[in-house]
Amino acid sequence: MSVTALIVAAGKGERLGGEVPKQYQSLGGRPVLRWAVEALIRHPSIDQVRVVIGEGQDGHAREALDGLAVGDLIIGGAERSNSVLNGLHAIGEGAVLVHDAARPFCPPEVVERLLAALEQADGSVPVLPVADTLASGGQFLEAPVDRRNLFRVQTPQAFHVEDLIHAYQEAGGASATDESTVMLSAGLKVATVEGDPMLEKLTMRADWERAEAILASRLVSRTGMGFDVHAFAGEGPIMLGGIPVPHLRGLSGHSDADVALHAITDALLGAAGLGDIGEHFPPSDPQWKGASSDLFLKHAATLIRDQGGLIDHVDVTIVAEEPKIGPHRSAIRARIAEILQMAIEQVSVKATTTEGLGFTGRREGMAAQAVASIRLGFIR
Ligand code: CTP
Ligand code: MG
Repeated sequence: MSVTALIVAAGKGERLGGEVPKQYQSLGGRPVLRWAVEALIRHPSIDQVRVVIGEGQDGHAREALDGLAVGDLIIGGAERSNSVLNGLHAIGEGAVLVHDAARPFCPPEVVERLLAALEQADGSVPVLPVADTLASGGQFLEAPVDRRNLFRVQTPQAFHVEDLIHAYQEAGGASATDESTVMLSAGLKVATVEGDPMLEKLTMRADWERAEAILASRLVSRTGMGFDVHAFAGEGPIMLGGIPVPHLRGLSGHSDADVALHAITDALLGAAGLGDIGEHFPPSDPQWKGASSDLFLKHAATLIRDQGGLIDHVDVTIVAEEPKIGPHRSAIRARIAEILQMAIEQVSVKATTTEGLGFTGRREGMAAQAVASIRLGFIR
């Protein structure tokens, strides 16, 4: 049976606040929704991931999900339960893991426990015990509540699509906060499996700070450096930092000879311990002849992000007597930020001459040197 992860991201995130709903806000450099999708999309037992978004959230969602295979986005409704139902109808059949976009980290073991338990019950949910003393009352406590048989229920929650649609019909559109409630009121059997503190939902500001702290504790900083040289030959313009820069002479190279992008690519690969540009794109391979170097740079960034890493900053120094870089500096900076999908503040472009000394001083060619700061993730 096929297993679909259905991620609901159609809320407004009013309790957290902020300029955009919480699922589109950046947590450790990547949108919360993206963390949630990436955690499930790479799970071997999950066949597809679908995402439900709110009306008018297309732009934010597309940006957050860029490059991830999530099929067509599904439009949600006013209540969470409406959003889930819309998603279920779009999926149609099979097993489903209904998950909140507001829970960015999902350990793979939880998914395994849920799917195993689904074989014995109509549904399965991850739960955590209640640690605090519980009591009812208002201004004054009235009665203690026995916490021994109480659980906090998390997502993802596993069901069969048809059963859950049926349960929702039985529940008569009641607005439930999760699917286990709906299944129970339809008289179906829901099994509990061990949840995980990593699955805590981001609801209030304090939850956000805790999630940032989790990230900080599980990411290690790495720095990489890159260096590249190309000789002047033939006619300009030259490609520099991903844009054409007018110059009388061109640069010789197997690809488009973009020294700045090559140096940054090597800095990124170096930071991640992934070898160097020549290893990934051998000059002996004819397919890279004349290749646009933004491909190389994008590839290095993708390799880092695919393993859960974050790119914090890149800094490049272009070494040349000519052409003058100053007039092109901000366009180059913007283009590098665009290729790397980073904010412009995370990209620095500098230039220097070598005071007439050496090969750059003799105007025989150009060089570039780059440093990249990344964080490698150990969040699976
Ligand atoms: N959700 C949804 N459709 C809704 C409401 C909520 O898809 N109409 C989603 C949210 O995007 C979130 C999950 O359900 O991923 C859990 O809901 P909650 O934490 O309450 O998120 P919000 O409703 O966005 O936040 P708030 O209640 O603070 O406004
Ligand atoms: Mg809500």
